Amino acid sequence: MKENLADIERILISADQIAARIKEVAAVLDKDYAGKTPIAICILKGSVVFFGDLIRAMETPVELEFMKVSSYGAGTVSSGKLSVSLDILSNIQNRDVLIVEDIVDSGNTMYALKRMLEGRSPASVRIISLLDKPSRRTADITPDYTCFEIEDEFVIGYGLDYGEKYRDLPYVGILKRSVYEQN
Ligand code: PRP
Repeated sequence: MKENLADIERILISADQIAARIKEVAAVLDKDYAGKTPIAICILKGSVVFFGDLIRAMETPVELEFMKVSSYGAGTVSSGKLSVSLDILSNIQNRDVLIVEDIVDSGNTMYALKRMLEGRSPASVRIISLLDKPSRRTADITPDYTCFEIEDEFVIGYGLDYGEKYRDLPYVGILKRSVYEQN
């Protein structure tokens, strides 16, 4: 048992619920990518846990890539500024690309990343997100696949952090207000 349990308000999505949903979504991906070998891109750091579980749940063979990006600029529809601190190594020309993300919030990161990757002439670019917070969306983007749609809560765990903590929790939890309001 992880020791920072006292910081968690409640478990929002349990490890069992996550595993069951990933199995369902993996089956949909297997159908959609039948006969293909997509390049799955793990968006560091938050997606690393989801990525590991998803690629193993899929029957479809995938190639693995890793990328670290963050968006900046105002949260408007037109804002498409992206800072890339780690890029993929593969040439994605004529390849099917599956971006694996932990959470789509304003959507700025995915909006800008999708546009950037489309500029490299892939056969397709799709986004799968573990979590989707549609109420926070300002950019014109919707993940192609979503495991869980959630309210505007401060979620941590299963890859998601607050100040680099809680990524190693096996579930998605809601952080106590007192933890982030004291800083
Ligand atoms: C988080 C998350 C998404 C992005 C979502 O990344 O992993 O990439 O923010 O926000 P948006 O929809 O408003 O653009 P973060 O920069 O916190 O990096 P991390 O994954 O390393 O924690």
